[in-house]
Amino acid sequence: MKKLLISTGGGDCPGLNAVIRGIYKRAKQHKDWEVYGSVEALSGIMKNPPELVKLNRAKTAGIHVRGGTILKTTNKGNPLQYPVKDEFGNITFQDITARVADRIKELGFDAVINIGGDGSQKISQALFEKGVPVIGVPKTIDNDLSATDMTFGFQTAVQIATDSFDKLVTTAESHHRVMIMEVMGRDAGWIALHTALAGGAEVCLIPEIPYDIHKVLKRIQDRYEKGRGFVNIVIAEGAKPKDGTLTFSPGEEGSEHVRLGGVAYELSRHLKQVGCTQEIRETVLGHTQRGGTPIAFDRVLATLFGVKAFELVLKGNFGKMVSYRNNDIVSVDILEATKSYNHVDKDGFLVKAAKGIGMSFGD
Ligand code: F6P
Repeated sequence: MKKLLISTGGGDCPGLNAVIRGIYKRAKQHKDWEVYGSVEALSGIMKNPPELVKLNRAKTAGIHVRGGTILKTTNKGNPLQYPVKDEFGNITFQDITARVADRIKELGFDAVINIGGDGSQKISQALFEKGVPVIGVPKTIDNDLSATDMTFGFQTAVQIATDSFDKLVTTAESHHRVMIMEVMGRDAGWIALHTALAGGAEVCLIPEIPYDIHKVLKRIQDRYEKGRGFVNIVIAEGAKPKDGTLTFSPGEEGSEHVRLGGVAYELSRHLKQVGCTQEIRETVLGHTQRGGTPIAFDRVLATLFGVKAFELVLKGNFGKMVSYRNNDIVSVDILEATKSYNHVDKDGFLVKAAKGIGMSFGD
């Protein structure tokens, strides 16, 4: 029997289970493959004994509908920057991908499918360069991975954010308030932009376009002056004012990232400082955007990714990441996907259309 290893790394994301099921069901058409999952990303295989889940029909049946990942995940202990404590308690970061590659060989895996975002795909590439037969599957609600038109999970996050936005409009309208809704998006404002367009926000603030607080205030005042007695703002967690800084708190020990969140409150304070007299309320959506059932689009995309990933394994076409491009499922070099981020183009058609209907980006 040949052995396939699946890993889900980084933040959880609606659609992860649909990918796992897609891989398993496609692999089952070939009687000579066994499929295993490493528990909590690649940390599962590094344990002694390894923490593995052997996938079977019972474990995968119906999971495409469920959010999260049956294999669990973590964004701590990235093998490219593995935190190691010395005798004095100081932490240094080391690249332990060679050890991970050796362990994969030692455990007898013939292929690895690594499902994850930018950080996970950098790990995939490092493992591939060390001889591991690996395929990447792009995951992130932020949609910030390049070399694919879309990642799975993104559309579900946008739908959740849009549903919340619609609810906040009711209160904005009834109370004549400025409602600020903060969505996820560390480096890319895709969720914010799509939600602002879908919901009809007056202001959308994203990491790619640092905002001028006076321009945001002007847009608010113009609208009140025109008699539209309320304003809805969408802000991405990674947005910042011109010459300003990110709003964050330190990440947990061993975590890859600082923890973003709270920029809605910063914006609210800042608006009051520069003279906003309207009542302002803030809502931070946080992890609700990553939770629960994936919408149909993401289930389909995730299933197609899973099927394609296993077909690349069958062909021995490693070092590739599956990708959704021009309404087709294709494969690209993992290296291409990790070279750059997929940022919102501040002069692109989406931003232009949004500005065309009067949305302000504070620029
Ligand atoms: O990368 C996806 C993401 O949802 C970001 O938008 C967000 O900043 C981060 O994950 C949060 O991660 P955690 O769940 O570790 O706080």
